[in-house]
Amino acid sequence: MSDTQMTFRQFLLKDYRTGGLDKDLVFLLEDIATACRIISNHVRDGAFKETLGVAGSTNIQGEDQKQLDVIANDEFVEHCSNCSRVAALVSEEVDEVDWLKDKPVAGDYIVYFDPLDGSSNLGVNLSVGSIFSIVQIKEAIDATDDSSVLIAGSEQICAGYSIYGPSTALVITTGHGVNGFTHQQGTGEFRLTYRDMTIPATTKEFAINASRYRLWDAPIRAYFDECIAGVEGSRGENSNMRWTASMVADIHRILVRGGVFLYPEDEGNRATGGKLRLMYEANPMGMLVEQAGGAASTGTQRIMDIQPTSHHQRVPVIMGSKDEVARIDAFHNA
Ligand code: AHG
Ligand code: MN
Ligand code: MN
Repeated sequence: MSDTQMTFRQFLLKDYRTGGLDKDLVFLLEDIATACRIISNHVRDGAFKETLGVAGSTNIQGEDQKQLDVIANDEFVEHCSNCSRVAALVSEEVDEVDWLKDKPVAGDYIVYFDPLDGSSNLGVNLSVGSIFSIVQIKEAIDATDDSSVLIAGSEQICAGYSIYGPSTALVITTGHGVNGFTHQQGTGEFRLTYRDMTIPATTKEFAINASRYRLWDAPIRAYFDECIAGVEGSRGENSNMRWTASMVADIHRILVRGGVFLYPEDEGNRATGGKLRLMYEANPMGMLVEQAGGAASTGTQRIMDIQPTSHHQRVPVIMGSKDEVARIDAFHNA
């Protein structure tokens, strides 16, 4: 078997033996991979089991939950709870922190996750995904206080996502590069198919929900105007636009071929500080993008340097090809 197709387990064991990966992190990542495989099956079976629709509940952020949001959350909780080193689970879909330990100690893990990202795509059979982030605490924390989980993204030791698209893939970083694994039907294994994913520094492709143009602040409008002016504008070149309404799918494309993804704070979401969530979306994707050579910014600050003030906090997001993020930052600093 070629090295490029090693299984996820073989990859983790290699990282354990030669890269110093924590043994418990190997187990936790295998459990997360299992959760993702099962969620992938739930998504594929959704039309038969009639689980693609709304659950009739709203999450803490006031969004209508899909049945699969709840099912995917339950899978993450069940499988992440296997690992005795996990002190707390923090989910986009759950109000409070789920403390698994009474007295978390140095070396324990906190797992943050968006169990199903892009769930508006479920009803139209387009890509969705799951996103996760792992922090290892450096000292004992207070499990009676949910603010104990407010740790900056720069402390992440691992981040990843699974995409449920034409194929299911799992993409992770443990702090030295980004690798992706495609789920193989038949063997049931995730196999290394995207080795050392690298984002080119420059790009002509951007991703933004342009229906919000009237709500944007001046720097985002100026950047967008420059892109759509094409060869006649100040960039002197034509750009291309993509928007999938699933951050996982957009970031996967950017990790494969470059580009920039924007979900800015605007007049419509200013009350919450943006749309995307710092701890379940911006931080893990920010770590992956940086580890692949890209950049992740709010326009004025590196995303992973943000000190969280609430675990459901939202932030403006600009991430992808390094030079393009710098160009958008420059519009903010002008
Ligand atoms: P979620 O399904 O977890 O709530 O996340 C959806 C997010 C993100 O994946 C996507 O980029 C964005 O919301 C889409 O927003 P619009 O519907 O405003 O385009
Ligand atoms: Mn999401
Ligand atoms: Mn979600």
